[in-house]
Amino acid sequence: MGFEAQVKKNKNTIYVPDIARITRIEYLSPTEKVFKIVFDDEEKRNSFSFKPGQFVELTLFGLGEAPFSIVSNPTNKDFFKLCIRNAGNISNALHRMVEGTKIGIRGPFGNGYFPYQKMKNHNVLLIAGGLGIAPLMSLIRYILHYREDYKEIMVVYGAVDPGSILFKNEIQYWSNRGDISLCLSVDNPDNKWTGEIGVCTKLIPRVDFPPEDTYVVVCGPPVMYKYVIYELEKKKFKPENIYLSLERRMECGVGKCNHCHIGDKLVCVDGPVFNLWEIRNLKEAL
Ligand SMILES: Cc1cc2nc3c(=O)[nH]c(=O)nc-3n(C[C@H](O)[C@H](O)[C@H](O)COP(=O)(O)OP(=O)(O)OC[C@H]3O[C@@H](n4cnc5c(N)ncnc54)[C@H](O)[C@@H]3O)c2cc1C
Ligand code: FES
Repeated sequence: MGFEAQVKKNKNTIYVPDIARITRIEYLSPTEKVFKIVFDDEEKRNSFSFKPGQFVELTLFGLGEAPFSIVSNPTNKDFFKLCIRNAGNISNALHRMVEGTKIGIRGPFGNGYFPYQKMKNHNVLLIAGGLGIAPLMSLIRYILHYREDYKEIMVVYGAVDPGSILFKNEIQYWSNRGDISLCLSVDNPDNKWTGEIGVCTKLIPRVDFPPEDTYVVVCGPPVMYKYVIYELEKKKFKPENIYLSLERRMECGVGKCNHCHIGDKLVCVDGPVFNLWEIRNLKEAL
């Protein structure tokens, strides 16, 4: 039996992916590309929906599977997008794929996502380091879609150098809108850089949102979290209003294999987004 026939036969099995295609590939930087993905099956295409912060498991047939955060706006129907860094086996192979390539998708997964409903009528501060901007993109795009539902919005984004800033066109669009504040910082500026220099943590003391009326979301390399939390707590942001997206090595993505556990939490089902209150006492969480 061919693979697609097997997929149809086992449609209700959690481990069998749905068939989809890469319909567009956008170059973002020397190490990141954005992949637009469309399910082959019309019913699946119509029923697929996700929340900001959720992820999918992507299968490259014959190679394996890896989890990726969805970066597109949840209000977009018919397709979704992933931003992928070429970091190893599967991601390098994905970077060599062309438009039209057939892939498998399971998900969306993650019961812990960004609390976009609770954030309504509050300020939202989004802090990203490097590729950490990717999981935040779906939230930022959603908030901007329903901009009038939220108070002040600020994005603090740090990258290694100007060439590695992701989503530059969209960031330019945000700065033209005038209803979202931006603080960009790079560790290694070039001679054209006019923005901030240094780690993005340094920008947090300048944030003047009232802590009791602000939700904070953070995503970046593990080393960043400790310093960001320290700065946020100095400013009296409440742990229950600080949300962090965590990454762990995953296998099943659905809470069966225990690969992604941190203490009694499974990142794939309880996360990948947690509030600081939930995880601060879990060994190895941060
Ligand atoms: C919830 C979630 C969301 C994610 N979202 C994104 C995203 O939006 N974009 C993105 O680019 N990536 C994302 N990732 C990471 C992604 O899933 C892959 O880990 C990444 O693409 C590398 O996979 P790979 O197969 O290409 O590389 P691998 O071949 O797995 O290698 C990658 C690196 O990991 C090391 N490594 C390999 N195996 C192990 C192991 N068992 N333990 C420790 N280290 C190991 C390798 O030496 C190498 O340095 C996410 C991960 C999670 C859990
Ligand atoms: S990846 Fe299997 S339990 Fe989380």
